[in-house]
Amino acid sequence: MCGIVGYLGPSQAFPVLLNELKCLEYRGYDSAGVAVIEEGRLCVLKAAGKLSNLEALLESKRPKASVGIGHTRWATHGIPNDQNAHPHTDKSGTVAVVHNGIIENHEELRDELKSLGYEFASETDTEVIVHLVSHEYAKDQDLLQSILRAVKRLSGIFALGIVSQKHPDRIYAVNHHYSLSVGLGDNENFLASDSMAVRQYTNRVIKLDQSELAEITTTGVRLFTFDGKEVKRSPIALDTSPYVIDKCGYKHFLLKEIHEQPLVLRQTLSKYLRHPNHPIDLNIDHLSTGSGETAYGVHLTEEEIKGLDRISVFACGTAYHASMVGKLLLEELVGIPCEVEIASEIRGRKVLVNESTLAIAVSQSGETADTLAALKEAKSKGAYTLGITNRADSHLAHLTQNLMVTECGIEVSVAATKTYLAQLASFYLLAIYLAEKRGTISKERAKELKVQLNLVPTMIEQILAREEQIRDVSVKYAEAHDVVFIGRGLNFPTALEGALKLKELSYIHASGYAAGELKHGPIAVLDQNVPVITVLVPGAVYEKTLSNAQEARARKAKMICVAVDGDEQATKTFDAVLAIPPVDELFSPMTSVVPLQLLSYFIADYLGKDVDQPRNLAKSVTVE
Ligand code: G6P
Repeated sequence: MCGIVGYLGPSQAFPVLLNELKCLEYRGYDSAGVAVIEEGRLCVLKAAGKLSNLEALLESKRPKASVGIGHTRWATHGIPNDQNAHPHTDKSGTVAVVHNGIIENHEELRDELKSLGYEFASETDTEVIVHLVSHEYAKDQDLLQSILRAVKRLSGIFALGIVSQKHPDRIYAVNHHYSLSVGLGDNENFLASDSMAVRQYTNRVIKLDQSELAEITTTGVRLFTFDGKEVKRSPIALDTSPYVIDKCGYKHFLLKEIHEQPLVLRQTLSKYLRHPNHPIDLNIDHLSTGSGETAYGVHLTEEEIKGLDRISVFACGTAYHASMVGKLLLEELVGIPCEVEIASEIRGRKVLVNESTLAIAVSQSGETADTLAALKEAKSKGAYTLGITNRADSHLAHLTQNLMVTECGIEVSVAATKTYLAQLASFYLLAIYLAEKRGTISKERAKELKVQLNLVPTMIEQILAREEQIRDVSVKYAEAHDVVFIGRGLNFPTALEGALKLKELSYIHASGYAAGELKHGPIAVLDQNVPVITVLVPGAVYEKTLSNAQEARARKAKMICVAVDGDEQATKTFDAVLAIPPVDELFSPMTSVVPLQLLSYFIADYLGKDVDQPRNLAKSVTVE
């Protein structure tokens, strides 16, 4: 969360900064700002709200400058307003800082700086950085050394962009356990939290390592460790295949991305699954797309796979729900105990992994701070590591020995949909792959599973063709204040994901429960005003789930379910049925979630919510 950009070169800085910021708006859209050096003077322009507000301001002022930094904010300390928007400046208005991350000792530093006479204009933790730099600069007028001294006082993880009107020929970038990329052009250079933002200008990029500072001028980039030692690094080449960022006629990116799911699934499946008669091949480093640093594919030897005695999965948000399904698949097909952890929940705890553990980190962005921290912890304990991500150039991709890249293209909408499906597909492929290698399923069973898996994209197409019916049902429940989702087994995560989507998109309070848990508390909230949405698919837990739904019905709740075509019990029990094609229970999480994604979309759209950029959210959560 929060995006940092920078530019220096012969062009006008503000349109470049704006273009870069547009690519990073997914990281937060509470406020945005730029600091440029115009005729030798630092000029700071910022605006609360979406980037379009800053854009209007910049268009009206059109600052003439060829060097500047910019920021798009997701608020951590201090409400989203003009004052708290970045960049922040020192007392003399000569130095400006943009920041991503959290300064954990900011209160202590704030007190210290206040006692030295520094006045604070914002409630942010960021402001301590600019005063610290300024304080250090007063000692020797050496900006590089002042930043290094200031950075040593900071606790937490952070990335910074810094400009000073006293040194208008340079930008400083600092990375401490974050991601920052410097894009190299001809007599111009770029800075961005995500290399995607500089790709429109150059494909040559230097990624800052952990605890590193870059001094960027128009002619070059010098890298330093926090101890001031200069380090050399060659640029890497970015993948140049064009990203298509276009709604393609859909009203929202979210709806387009829901509709892309059959294609995305086919692409992910076809990469690893050539034919149901053949074993799945996850060892595909030959498909490397050119970053040159990433270990594509799963490279564990058969012996290593057979030696695994535990799988630990770390993820947040929607990726956590996909991982919950993954756990059940891995245990069912591979027979290895598997635990799935909300990555933020293992902080400060013992992580019980060892050299026989496969640690899997799942993250659409590959930049979620908590997921990365969990992964690093597991790696330091000697576990084998596997990343499942949609970003082959992400931090996560570079940290793992094995990598499965979901073939989704850019997911623009902040709420995840197609990447959830692709993460699920990755788990199905992985579970079948490991089961084949360990011999825990027969050849026939493996073939059957692959045939079933290949049928899923078509089933999703069939569900999408029923979109109108789903909309008609959904909008009837748009006025609800609370919605309860229930499911069992493989579809408990579906209930959680359904509730998450509804909350994220419509701001209606929604909770997902294991259906059997309803009677242990949640049932108390039910009455005729609370819709209960049950995920009910034929299989081992069908009857029990139906009984749990009956319990809700007896409390007069409004009853909706996701059920397969022709389920007469469902038609009798529920007020509305969101029907999906008949599906094997094992594969049902991939289809049962689709009507729930659409339900959330239609309710949010009906309520006039900002579907693609819901309030308070960010797509990439880089703070802990
Ligand atoms: C944010 C996003 C969610 C996402 C979660 C984890 O909260 O809004 O959609 O599921 O982060 O993100 P990741 O990139 O690690 O999958």
